[in-house]
Amino acid sequence: MSEPLGIGLIGCGTVGSGVARLLTQESERLATRAGRSLVLRRVAVRDPSKPRAVTLPAEMVTTDIAAVVRDPAIPIVVELVGGTSLARTVVRDALAAGKHVVTANKALLAAHGPEIFAAARQAERTVCFEAAVAGGVPIIRALAESLAANQVTAIQGILNGTSNFILSAMSEKGMSYADALAQAQKLGYAEADPTLDVDGSDAAHKLAILAQIAFGVVAQPAEIERHGIDTIDALDVRYADELGYTVKLLAEAWAAERDSPTPTVALHVAPVLLRKTDMLAQVRGAFNAIQVVGDVVGETLYQGPGAGMMATASSVVADLIDLAVGRAQKTFAVANLWSGGTSRFSVVPSDKVRSRFYLRLLVRDLPGVLADVCQALADQEISISSVIQHEAVEGHPEQVVPLVIMTHTAETARMRDAIATIDRLAAIVTPAVHYSVDD
Ligand SMILES: NC(=O)c1ccc[n+]([C@@H]2O[C@H](COP(=O)([O-])OP(=O)(O)OC[C@H]3O[C@@H](n4cnc5c(N)ncnc54)[C@H](OP(=O)(O)O)[C@@H]3O)[C@@H](O)[C@H]2O)c1
Repeated sequence: MSEPLGIGLIGCGTVGSGVARLLTQESERLATRAGRSLVLRRVAVRDPSKPRAVTLPAEMVTTDIAAVVRDPAIPIVVELVGGTSLARTVVRDALAAGKHVVTANKALLAAHGPEIFAAARQAERTVCFEAAVAGGVPIIRALAESLAANQVTAIQGILNGTSNFILSAMSEKGMSYADALAQAQKLGYAEADPTLDVDGSDAAHKLAILAQIAFGVVAQPAEIERHGIDTIDALDVRYADELGYTVKLLAEAWAAERDSPTPTVALHVAPVLLRKTDMLAQVRGAFNAIQVVGDVVGETLYQGPGAGMMATASSVVADLIDLAVGRAQKTFAVANLWSGGTSRFSVVPSDKVRSRFYLRLLVRDLPGVLADVCQALADQEISISSVIQHEAVEGHPEQVVPLVIMTHTAETARMRDAIATIDRLAAIVTPAVHYSVDD
């Protein structure tokens, strides 16, 4: 067996404790897989006196991050502090000191990927990040290695477990968004401030990473159009259910004009209506799942726990094993990630993406309303597949009825134009709600 491989852990919270546990409690198994021992040498935290989910010798724990990063007995630094400020410094310093880096930090990679990967190439070191997308689900390896013979044509992912938990509770238990969120917080599936999870930002960070690997595009998360679940009304979850659909927050990448010299990819995060029989529709609770379509393989699906101490540690330690074996370095060298300017694909707005749409209106029950709505759709050449008028909304001061319209396939831009017209109609009580429908 080769020399033991020293590891420095920066951050020992939820994920770090799981990694430390695996390294200390499963050392024999890991050594067999890695061909050498993986030795946890030092752990940097903010408060060494804090109780942790792993017991570490006191002399191993420090508050001095720089000392861990510079330690010559540590060739691999694992960044698990989170955020984009301190983490960026840790990763930069580690690479400059000649260390390989493993991170689970999607926000960091989405915001500073080009800088970090350029620094790694310059230092001839490797950055591994399997845990940064979908926690325990090996989606990075699937895209970068197992599907390497393919051009990916589409990705649809349930990448935020908190949102999926809330949507599952709304559809299965008929809960309101507020009640489902409160339950998610009580059970530890949502932070006290859940904004980044429920507004689609976290899923956009992860989509930016997947799009980089699958299409080579460098998309800033802010450029990815996103709509979260925080504005979803229980009414729409119920109507979708009646029509045979489930609402899911999907992070999607759609490639177009693949055979042209200038193919495009549209990236967005939004609630989508999926047929209940669709595999992604059946992913419940805090689980993650990603469907990837490759031009050679066809449809593939990856599913599993998207977060949590041990599930995420599973991916971090797999990266450590890959570095120990030397596989990660080889993949990293050829993948040329975040190098910019090398992709055939360009990122385009989602306006041109075509789909069916679910449109829900609250209208005053006046003659001619339906005709006006249909005209607005017809003006954009959007044809209607079905119209359902539901019972009047209880407790509403006026006679207000919900109208649900399912359209045939239409371009997103045209649908938005039609909605702008519909929202100006006198009979419309609240702005129209619309979601893509994926059949
Ligand atoms: N939690 C998950 O399920 C999950 C899943 C996938 C990816 N991730 C990613 O994994 C990373 C870590 O997440 P986490 O949930 O493990 O975070 P966490 O529980 O908040 O742990 C953060 C750790 O960083 C340490 N730290 C923070 N500031 C520090 C400083 N100035 N100096 C030294 N140490 C400092 C903290 O020390 P103290 O313990 O002393 O406070 C703590 O140990 C994030 O990038 C996250 O996005 C998490």
